[in-house]
Amino acid sequence: MQQLTDPFGRRIEYVRLSLTDRCDLRCFYCMPKGFNDFEAPEHWLSFDEIERVIGAFARLGTRRVRITGGEPLVRKGLPELAARLHALPGIDDLSLSTNAVQLARHAEALKAAGVQRLNVSLDTLDTTRFHEITGGGKLEKVIGGLMAAKATGFSPIKINMVVMKGVNDGDVEAMVDFCIEHGFTLRFIETMPMGDTGREANAHFLNLQTVRKRLEQRYELVPDVMPGGGPARYMRVIGTELRLGFITPLSQHFCETCNRVRLSVDGTLYLCLGQEHHFELRPLLRNGIDDDTLDNAIRQAITLKPERHEFNDKPGQVVRFMSMTGG
Ligand code: GTP
Ligand code: 5AD
Ligand code: SF4
Repeated sequence: MQQLTDPFGRRIEYVRLSLTDRCDLRCFYCMPKGFNDFEAPEHWLSFDEIERVIGAFARLGTRRVRITGGEPLVRKGLPELAARLHALPGIDDLSLSTNAVQLARHAEALKAAGVQRLNVSLDTLDTTRFHEITGGGKLEKVIGGLMAAKATGFSPIKINMVVMKGVNDGDVEAMVDFCIEHGFTLRFIETMPMGDTGREANAHFLNLQTVRKRLEQRYELVPDVMPGGGPARYMRVIGTELRLGFITPLSQHFCETCNRVRLSVDGTLYLCLGQEHHFELRPLLRNGIDDDTLDNAIRQAITLKPERHEFNDKPGQVVRFMSMTGG
């Protein structure tokens, strides 16, 4: 089996595939207010083009694919695409990150298509605060989506909570209780200064070490592991089934173990979440590139992967915002 290794010796085996830059929520830390400059549909990679690119990555040793957005469920035909990716030889971990607003309708079809793992963004259980953070979202839809996913048998279901000082840091304990009750894993995320929105949110940055210390006064936490290929560090809450994950790009970055690249809806391969290094695949695909040349193009793209983000040293540096590459 061929393998992709970047200039820093890291094996690249996880592709995060953004199916759309659109979203049915407007979380203030993710997409600018009133933003409307979405990618034109003729620039969206078709399902055939996506299958070719992921097929090439699979030949080069990628085994994990995570479908993201924007919000992936706003792209029509997602279960069909999921089934095609699941069928690719070598892809043995197909997962989805969603806001769960439309999950209730799609949970069964996604499971049948071979999606194995679900990560759901949810920052609060307070209806009013949810409405404020998401620019008008309805919390009951997300809860309905989560309950449908649980009833369909997805496991694990991980909840992603961006913890922001003065916004939702008081909601941590309620989220812990909710996840214990329903058997979900809870992951806390530090805000990253991506685009103008992320910089605005950075004013609410909270070092997750303080959250961990606060929880240690209420619970006994021991280090643990979870299936997945991401950067979270896990702790188990003694006396419960709950696992807590800490995603700490700023207070304790994890770039030395980075295993991933991101493919955006227009066929741009982004080599790092926190840097602008990228490689355009769409022109090659639309010029009838053959499989060997595509594999070589991907190998070449991987040589561009930077060592790490510089959010701490250069906070204004990345101009694209999170909804373009899906976190
Ligand atoms: P698992 O495979 O389940 O571990 O998933 P994951 O944690 O890789 O994926 P998910 O989409 O749930 O990621 C959660 C959040 O973690 C993202 O929205 C980002 O905020 C952050 N994150 C994920 N990957 C990276 C990364 O490579 N770099 C940085 N800086 N943050 C990341
Ligand atoms: N910082 C950290 N994570 C972010 N996300 C979006 N914007 C940011 C940001 N500025 C991630 C979160 C959220 C998902 C939609 O994208 O994980 O749950
Ligand atoms: Fe990888 Fe860049 Fe994320 Fe660091 S910031 S883990 S190098 S994608």
